Amino acid sequence: MTRSLALIATALLLNSAQQAATAQAASRSATRPIYHAWLDPKLSPDERARAALAAMTLDEKLRLVFGFSDQALTDVGKVPDEIVSPELKNYVVTHLVKGSAGFVPGVPRLGIPDQTQTDASMGVRNSFIPSTALPSSLATAASFDAAVPRAGGRMIGAEARATRHNTMLSGGINLAREPRNGRNFEYAGEDPLLAGTMVGALIDGIQSNRIISTIKHYAVNDQESQRTTLDVTVSAEAMRQSDLLAFEFAIEQGNPGSVMCSYNLINGRWGCENDYLLNTVLKHDWGYKGFVMSDWGAVHSTAPAANNGLDQFTGFCCAADKPWFGPPAMKAALQSGAISEQRLDDMVQRILWALFDSGAVDDPVKVTPIDYAANAAVAQKAAEESLVLLKNDGDLLPLRGVKTIAVIGGNADKGVMAGGGSSDVTPVGGAIMIEQHTFLPSPPLAALKQELPRTRIDFDSGADPAAAAALAAKADVAIVFVTQHDSEGYDGSLNLSGNQDALVAAVAAANPKTVVVVESGGAIFMPWGGQVPAILEAFYPGIRGGPAIARILTGKVNPSGHLPISFPASTEQLAHPQIAGLGPPGETPTAVTYDEGAAIGYKWHDAKGTRPLWAFGHGLSYTSFALSELTARLEGKAIKLSITIGNTGKRTGKSVAQAYVAPADWQKAGWEAPRRLGAFAKAELKPGKSQRIEMVVDPRLLATYEAAHNSWRIKAGTYRLTVGDASDAPMLTTEIALPASIWSASNGRAQ
Ligand code: BGC
Repeated sequence: MTRSLALIATALLLNSAQQAATAQAASRSATRPIYHAWLDPKLSPDERARAALAAMTLDEKLRLVFGFSDQALTDVGKVPDEIVSPELKNYVVTHLVKGSAGFVPGVPRLGIPDQTQTDASMGVRNSFIPSTALPSSLATAASFDAAVPRAGGRMIGAEARATRHNTMLSGGINLAREPRNGRNFEYAGEDPLLAGTMVGALIDGIQSNRIISTIKHYAVNDQESQRTTLDVTVSAEAMRQSDLLAFEFAIEQGNPGSVMCSYNLINGRWGCENDYLLNTVLKHDWGYKGFVMSDWGAVHSTAPAANNGLDQFTGFCCAADKPWFGPPAMKAALQSGAISEQRLDDMVQRILWALFDSGAVDDPVKVTPIDYAANAAVAQKAAEESLVLLKNDGDLLPLRGVKTIAVIGGNADKGVMAGGGSSDVTPVGGAIMIEQHTFLPSPPLAALKQELPRTRIDFDSGADPAAAAALAAKADVAIVFVTQHDSEGYDGSLNLSGNQDALVAAVAAANPKTVVVVESGGAIFMPWGGQVPAILEAFYPGIRGGPAIARILTGKVNPSGHLPISFPASTEQLAHPQIAGLGPPGETPTAVTYDEGAAIGYKWHDAKGTRPLWAFGHGLSYTSFALSELTARLEGKAIKLSITIGNTGKRTGKSVAQAYVAPADWQKAGWEAPRRLGAFAKAELKPGKSQRIEMVVDPRLLATYEAAHNSWRIKAGTYRLTVGDASDAPMLTTEIALPASIWSASNGRAQ
């Protein structure tokens, strides 16, 4: 008998002995409750996971590493019995939450719950259950306030719990390297600090419901074109200073139970069997204790995937999928020694750890009523904190004393746009499908009428620019809504679709008081930008987008969102003017080299000296702010900044102070760009009031990553700190001398 066969046989024997002991104990339990260490909440999640693992049979362990997609409900019957036993098929079909994303059977004998999985970051996606849709994650990142995604996470996590889902596939954090990426709206922008902070808070909010949240898609899955065959070449230095740093911050702050590996290849290795990303960085260097689940259909092998760090094959179904982690494949790999028993135990231990650590075992999910009205208020608040006022010449906004308004285009009479794909929530009130795009039933037109009952408001669809311009010419103010659809599955365009550019130009020519409201997944070009006095970027503003837009336009709410991405002025400004693999049929092997390294977004613009259309961090308010008394000192390796923010205008408003750090000579310091966002803070101030704010710059944002020694290094020298309310609006500057410093990037907590 081989060593691994002997190990399996021993494990089986041990397990049947354990089962007999459990049965004996059960018969005694009539008089005395049995103590199961894994059910003891006084023990640590580690200890409980170890105890549960020790009590599990091989077949039980294998249940936890092989998950099914929702499609299993109808299709699992077609899978041969040798791959999925009739008992397991029956279990899946009777326990899966219909309409969800996926399901991993639990071990009822031991009180280990099923993993009932639902997408995603804007809300519970279940085709049969209505849910409250938050604004897109990109919009929420524009709040520059972790309290916003945290509150949103708490709300959507509560809806997940109340609909019997204990795992959310939420926490999208791929950096916006490619402004046309069809999924940028699911992510939190182009900066690792901002994205990490926002997504960490979202995950923390979700998991406060004692369920698991999943950060995704790990890693560098930054475009949808050829997403399953794209091989990304990128250096370890670039990743650790940008894409992976965003994950690192978010994992530290949010402690997600699971990480979803991505479809693409990174430096020639599939995301879900990438030893460097999964074993070296995530599990070793960051000391991550949770588990790695695959994206749906992203697994390509059994032993290589397991040994390179994948813990759970998720989303199996059914006819076309290869059951790489199905019981027969796993047993064969164990028997041949291709996967060690220790590795299988580690996979299961990690899954169990996440279930115990989150509270999903102690507090099983069950169906309960949902207060949709209260939850919609959370979504509305998120939108009100996030919409970005890009332009407001002559203080056209907020609208005051306006007698007539022409509202034009964007289906503003019906609802607000939402993004497509696996994050597309079935909204309370039902989705409105217009040309195969989802709109949420929250029409800005009705909301404006409600806010301005004495104003005459007429609507024109915008189908005919001349007719729209004629209506606009008769009104005091024209508000044009433009929409740009983005979706998982394909990349978008920076040019508005259809006749929308012509529409805005025609309306602006007819009425100089034209406001443009943009509902987009991410950046767009604005060829009419110079012709209109006011522009509000609403992104995909969620289930209460209509009222949020109306309340900002009318001044009930003072806008305070700032751009989490740069809006490029032209395709030529991009690091990759052509999207690799755009055009050929799907699954065409494609390569892209991210030779821009960590210089993403504003860093790329700064490094190249190009001026974007709208800069990262930009966002206007109806009041004005002044900064004063900037001081900076070293605290350990970090920099502690203090600054006074004063409201110098006439209205209460929220200021976003952004601190950018710059070495005296960025190239000599080995930085990817002249400066980085080091810290940010949002403060609400009444007119005439001021507040002292403290911010801390994490040492990793002052350092470069050195692959040769797996370390972070700060080069000695003078560093400039500039604080302002946009990356292109510096207000105050100070300098600080940093001593040389080097520390390990492995389990290297920053201080
Ligand atoms: C997406 C994931 C999603 C999964 C399950 C995949 O296509 O990339 O983000 O969680 O489907 O729906």
